[in-house]
Amino acid sequence: MSAQRKTNTLVIEGGHPLRGAVSVSGSKNATLGAMAAALLVSEECVLKNVPDIGDVEQMAQVLRSIGASVDWAGPHVLRINAAKLHSSSPATELAGSLRGSFLVMGALLGRLGEASCPQPGGDVIGQRPIDVHLAGFAAMGCRLGREGEKYVVESDGLKGARIFADYPSVLGTQNLMLAAATARGTTTIVNGAAEPEVQGLAAMLNSMGARITGVGSHTITVEGVQALHGTRHRIIPDRLEAGTFAIAAAVTNGRAEIRGVELNHLFSLIAKMREAGVMVEEAGDKLRVWREGELRAVTIQALPYPGLATDLQAPMAVLLSQARGVSYVHERVFENRLLYTGELRKMGAEVVTTGTTTAIISGPTPLIGSSVRALDVRAGAALILAGLAASGRTEIADVYHVDRGYERIGGKLRGLGAVIERV
Ligand code: UD1
Repeated sequence: MSAQRKTNTLVIEGGHPLRGAVSVSGSKNATLGAMAAALLVSEECVLKNVPDIGDVEQMAQVLRSIGASVDWAGPHVLRINAAKLHSSSPATELAGSLRGSFLVMGALLGRLGEASCPQPGGDVIGQRPIDVHLAGFAAMGCRLGREGEKYVVESDGLKGARIFADYPSVLGTQNLMLAAATARGTTTIVNGAAEPEVQGLAAMLNSMGARITGVGSHTITVEGVQALHGTRHRIIPDRLEAGTFAIAAAVTNGRAEIRGVELNHLFSLIAKMREAGVMVEEAGDKLRVWREGELRAVTIQALPYPGLATDLQAPMAVLLSQARGVSYVHERVFENRLLYTGELRKMGAEVVTTGTTTAIISGPTPLIGSSVRALDVRAGAALILAGLAASGRTEIADVYHVDRGYERIGGKLRGLGAVIERV
């Protein structure tokens, strides 16, 4: 990402209720898994509904750094050909700052029997260990080592295993599914993640010839097959982008239709928004959101799926700053994902934290335009929502974080009547 992009700032003239319709893009996190899966085969894989965002571009560079070709074959269509891999070790400067890049480990183990990657970075939201990934690889018969800052994993033939995941890690579960797809024998991941993005990866792998069952539950079974083949796969809608727009409509007292969503994936969010007094209508692949009267304070808990997504915790907190009463926000997935509350306080929100995982919000308090900084992709999105709801002008620095995960967020919001520009 260029230095110039890092200085990007969004300026929002707040106070305009969002109105109209907006379409969601394909899921960022599902795309990263799908891109890694394409490394498992020498045939071409074509991904449709791919969001044009910073993280996808960075993952493309990670794949190119080991010899895969990755090209846009049209709008939102990505063609990946991993026929000629020349390395099992992606470039450190590319992989180290993208958490999802660690998924190349499972795919390269399956394809080449070896892989090495730096400790994956990503957002500053707490410790992000990878013990689930590594313990699973070890259970499948891999040797683990370190070379400088890289984790090195090798196998003389992956063996299916019954694996207990200490935590239902999303990337951990995906990594083990990638490795297990062509392992000898059956792998069972006990306490695996149930997130829709895990389900999306299983759908792609199954379309490549894999035999994966149980996704959506916490016990996932992967019957290893001898070989996989190329595929054409459609990325699921981004539930986190959909949720962000739904909350944006509610917090600005607007009325919006969010199109192209998978309603099942949004059940927890819809339930909590309704509890807070937001009107939500479900219609096929559309979500209609509006307000009638005051919002009510509620308690929310960010949990593994099907609990409320941790990535929607900060946007929900902004909504709750406009609700009457005292709301409690419990972050139960990451240990340090409330840093954005300091920025919200600058805008007038009455929010205090007890420890690093609970925020207490008293509302409603009018939000006032301020200069704030996007700390990570979702915290940045939350500040955009706060800016839209605030009176006056909000300047959000470091919006490159937001661009990593949201396609054309300014343009999409302008389409809903927001006054927002990039400087
Ligand atoms: C993925 C998503 C991220 C989302 C998160 C939780 C991608 C690229 N990112 O991140 O947007 O916020 O899921 O839904 O898909 N943990 C362990 N051991 C491990 C791995 C994780 O203890 O080996 C713990 C972490 O410390 C954290 C929790 O598990 O507390 C959740 O992490 P995890 O599910 O792994 O998140 P990611 O897969 O990194």
